[in-house]
Order: sequence, then C-alpha cells, then structure tokens
Amino acid sequence: MLKEKLEEVRGRAVAAIREAQTSQSLYDVKVQFLGKQGQFSALMKEMGKLTPEERPVFGQLANEAKNTIEQAYLEREQALKTAELGAKLVEEALDLTLPGPTMPPLGAQHPIALVIDEIIAILSRLGYSVRTGPLIEQDRYNFEALNIPKDHPARDMQDTFYVDERHVLRTHTSPIQAHVLETERPPLRIIGVGPVFRCDSDVSHSPNFHQIEGMYVDTKVSMADLKGTITYFVKEFFGKSLKTRFRPSFFPFTEPSAEVDCQCPLCAGKGCAMCKQSGWVEIGGSGLINPNVLRHAGVEYPRWQGFAFGFGIERMGIIKYGIEHIGLYNQNDVRFLRQFSI
Ligand code: DAH
Repeated sequence: MLKEKLEEVRGRAVAAIREAQTSQSLYDVKVQFLGKQGQFSALMKEMGKLTPEERPVFGQLANEAKNTIEQAYLEREQALKTAELGAKLVEEALDLTLPGPTMPPLGAQHPIALVIDEIIAILSRLGYSVRTGPLIEQDRYNFEALNIPKDHPARDMQDTFYVDERHVLRTHTSPIQAHVLETERPPLRIIGVGPVFRCDSDVSHSPNFHQIEGMYVDTKVSMADLKGTITYFVKEFFGKSLKTRFRPSFFPFTEPSAEVDCQCPLCAGKGCAMCKQSGWVEIGGSGLINPNVLRHAGVEYPRWQGFAFGFGIERMGIIKYGIEHIGLYNQNDVRFLRQFSI
C-alpha cells in the first residue's frame, strides 16, 4: 500500500516539477513535496506502520524516489534559469548603435579657429611654441620696442585705436615679439597669435581681425632660413607645392623686409578672380629682425640674429577656402559656418 502511495507521490512530484513555468512555482512544488510538511515527509512518517522486514526495503525505495524527485528538480531548475536569463537578456538588450532620442546638432569649428589651429600645428612641427600678449598694449611695446618711435611716419601705416596717452588696442601681434625678446633668452622659435585692432573697415578690412606672428632667433640667420621656413609653411598649409615670392618692402622692425606672396592656391597660379588674374596672392610681411629691435630688448647683436613674419588669419582663410567677403566671418550665418564641419 505504502509502496503504491510512494510511486504515486513520485509520479505527481516529477510531473509537477516538469510543468513548473517559473523558478518561484518550481520552488513551491519542491516545498509541497519535499518540505518538512510536504507529501513525501508525510509518507515517511507512515513508515512506522511497516514490519521491521519491510522497513529497509521501503527505506531504499523511498531514497530512490527522493533522488528521482531531486534530480528532476535540479534539471528543471537549470532549464528555467537558462530560459529566464535568455528572456532577461532579450528584454534588457541595449543597442548602442541606435541614435539617442535627443541627438544634439553637431557644430563646426569656426574657420578662424581652424586656420589658427592648423598654422600652430605646422609651425610646432618646426619647433615653434605659442606665446600670447595683452590686447590693450603699452605704446612702447606696440611701437617703440619695434623701432617705431613717436611721430615716426610708420605709425600712419596702422590706424590705431588709442585707449589713453600710453595705451593702445594692439594693432598687430608683433609686440608679442618684443615681450618675448625681453623675458626669454635666445635661441627662440615662437609664435604669437590672437586678435588685433585697427580703425579701418571696408570689404577687405575689419576693425578687429587676427594675426599670427613667427619669430626665430639664433646665431647666423639669413633670408634663406626665412624663405625655407615660409616655403615649407605654405606647402603644408595649402596642401600643395606652391611657389613663394618675396617682394622688397618696408617694416621698421625688420631689415631687409619683404612682403610674401604665394601662388594662388585656388587656381594654382593660373589666374582667377581670387588672385585678380595675377596668379599670386599676398599672405603677409616678413624680414630679418632689425638690430635696433634686438638691442632695445637687450639681446646682443650680431651674436644673435633672427627673422620674423606676420600673416593675417582672415586672409589665410579667404585664400585657402575661397571665402568671398571678410564680413562672412562675423555674421554667424550657419549656412556659411556649417561648411567647415568635419
Ligand atoms: N606687423 C606687421 C603688420 O601688422 C606684419 C609683419 C611684417 C610682421 C613683418 C612681422 C614682420 O613679424 O617681420 O602689418
């Protein structure tokens, strides 16, 4: 009798285990059969009714039945765990390639910043490092230290905004040269970069614009060094081997001085609207540093000599990208700015 009951409990337990659909219901089934108050334990309590000969036989059968139930439980538990984990993974799956719901519109670097970064990158490869200076500059750095004394006609070359008797909005980045010569010891390879101001405004002039200045000071420096540096720079900046040409010019802080032209990058020297059909565009001024500038800063000449150059950033961008009007830089027109996104 008890044996049949045992068989029946085993059959129901195994069936219930196989039918359990969740870990929780499986656990409930286990308690229902194998728990202290469970049906299997109840059977065991009935063992007392058996004869001493029957007991060990039944005991063995009961053990086997219990093992079968436990085995079925373990198998089902494993299967449910795997299924539940699989379901969880599917449910919580995250597709990292999906665009976010509020993707911010990507901006673009302003062309002025783009040109500045690129010039700095090129000249750093030649060992130059960046210096800055004040925008409100003392008259003596903007002019005097650069060999432009008071009442010198060269002051007329630059329409100056005066802040007071002794201060101006710097009209060029060249005063950065004067600061560096005064505070650092040669040999020097520096770039000065930033905004400059002039009382001037028309299609090709803006009252505030940007310049980049290079200064090289070492022993035995010649125009050949200057020309080599600028030719390399032009090739790297415009991405083509364009010829450079030096036209004699005058700047009080350099002697000799030269204006630098390069072949028009837009037409590669053939002639177009940008270069007014000449095939050449002007990119800036340059020259060997005037000994007066070195001596003024306490740098021993001719032991130390140098060259310097200065380019207009807006102009470099106009030539490189074919920008038609200097005003476009400041109009904040997204259709213009977007063209420079990477
Ligand atoms: N400072 C000059 C200007 O603003 C540009 C310039 C010319 C800078 C010759 C230089 C230089 O360093 O050597 O027009």
